[in-house]
Amino acid sequence: MRVRVHQHVNPLAPYYRFVPQPFEIENVFASPDLPLLLDIGSARGRFLLKMAEVEPQWNFLGVEIREPLVVEANRLAEENNLTNLRYEFCNASFALDKLLINLPANLLQMVTIQFSDPWYKKKHAKRRMVTSDLVATIVGHLKISGRIFIQTDVDFLAEEMFTVFRGNADLSEIEIAENPFPVKTEREIAVEEKGLPIYRRIFEKSGS
Ligand SMILES: C[S@@+](CC[C@H](N)C(=O)[O-])C[C@H]1O[C@@H](n2cnc3c(N)ncnc32)[C@H](O)[C@@H]1O
Repeated sequence: MRVRVHQHVNPLAPYYRFVPQPFEIENVFASPDLPLLLDIGSARGRFLLKMAEVEPQWNFLGVEIREPLVVEANRLAEENNLTNLRYEFCNASFALDKLLINLPANLLQMVTIQFSDPWYKKKHAKRRMVTSDLVATIVGHLKISGRIFIQTDVDFLAEEMFTVFRGNADLSEIEIAENPFPVKTEREIAVEEKGLPIYRRIFEKSGS
């Protein structure tokens, strides 16, 4: 049975301004030294569930603001004996830096942000997840040549997100037409079934 949740939660509400325990990778994954993929806004976590099965040489961490989805997704990961997958309850806008504070350098190789923001109205713009602070946190942990994959079906949100990522001097932009992953998210499948366009980019961390 699928757990029932609010369709959206307000990330600015006091309840969601909590500081999570730091993510201790050594205590979580069977092989903590594997490259790490972080999916921000993992929802029911089905993208990572399949990715963890088909890519056993990677570790996968999902971050999601709706706690019941995190509990359900971790239950499914355990039932499937996946020792390279974990989901964490975290408001990424407020506390991703605190969650990742103990993450060893050079493990984070890929970040995905997929159909993240339901906040289309101007009056809700402050609730949107992708800000220059979030990008700085991601880039601070990302390995050199590590990549961020972003996709959404909302054209003006895509442009807004791409602009924020372009504003980070350590990133270079790569245009892509197709999703490079072997697995699609639930939202991506729904959008494709309706025949709607999807806007995608990769940003890569430069440096040597
Ligand atoms: C439209 S859903 C897309 C889910 C999934 N990525 C997909 O493509 O099917 C967006 C997800 O991002 C989560 N989200 C939104 N703001 C968030 C935040 N500040 N921190 C963590 N998760 C957030 C929402 O709760 C929701 O599950």
